[in-house]
Amino acid sequence: MNDTSPTPGNGGAKLRKNDLVAWADEVWKSYDGGRIGVLQGASLEVRPGQMVALWGPSGSGKSTLLHLLGGLDVPDRGDLSVCGLDPRKEADRLMLRRKHLGFVFQLHNLIPDLTVEENLHVPALAVGRPRGESAERIRELTEKVGLGHRLGHRIQDLSGGERQRTAICRALMNSPGLILADEPTGSLDEKTGETVFALLRSLAEREGIAVVLATHERRFAEACNHILRVREGRLSEV
Ligand SMILES: Nc1ncnc2c1ncn2[C@@H]1O[C@H](COP(=O)(O)OP(=O)(O)O)[C@@H](O)[C@H]1O
Ligand SMILES: [Mg+2]
Repeated sequence: MNDTSPTPGNGGAKLRKNDLVAWADEVWKSYDGGRIGVLQGASLEVRPGQMVALWGPSGSGKSTLLHLLGGLDVPDRGDLSVCGLDPRKEADRLMLRRKHLGFVFQLHNLIPDLTVEENLHVPALAVGRPRGESAERIRELTEKVGLGHRLGHRIQDLSGGERQRTAICRALMNSPGLILADEPTGSLDEKTGETVFALLRSLAEREGIAVVLATHERRFAEACNHILRVREGRLSEV
């Protein structure tokens, strides 16, 4: 046997840690001075272009894990790596949020007074991309999600589904390596939720962007490449 032979039971050749978009190794996180233990040795691996579901009931720690991956909070212990950076380090966190990650939340977190177009310029401005270049990208993305005719409308005048489609465009603006999506369909009715989920999946797939999707809904988890069940602070493959 040589070093390059595929590892049995691993779905093919084993990837080195450096080749993963994100990984977490035995991550622990508690709140309230340790009284609320949420993550208790959670580990995961995300490969390039893969869509991974974090599936578990409300309160199981899905958002907590997404926040740690996105550098919005830090773990008590355990190792983390996202797009080759360490979300526990201040300087890396900044880079991650600006350049390497896209976020889609349950509530869109767009700026309600600004138009669709203005909201989509925000992530591009943060990385200093020329306005003309981002205008091109905005046109391309909004066409793909069927919002090309809504560019000049303010967020507060859009429907829930349109807001979430705008949020998907915002997450994709800088062509990130990874999108963190936290119950992105949670505020939508069933049919609109399905449309929004399908758009997220197809756009990410087309651009080769990995997605970690937190959901309590089995149907969305099942539509991902990989399901990780969140239970008792740990993750297990389904
Ligand atoms: N900032 C916080 N302070 C205290 N408790 C928190 C905080 N954030 C989350 N929790 C608690 O941690 C647990 C997991 O929450 P969360 O990660 O939001 O779960 P999920 O996203 O799966 O619904 C819940 O019991 C929640 O109340
Ligand atoms: Mg949550």
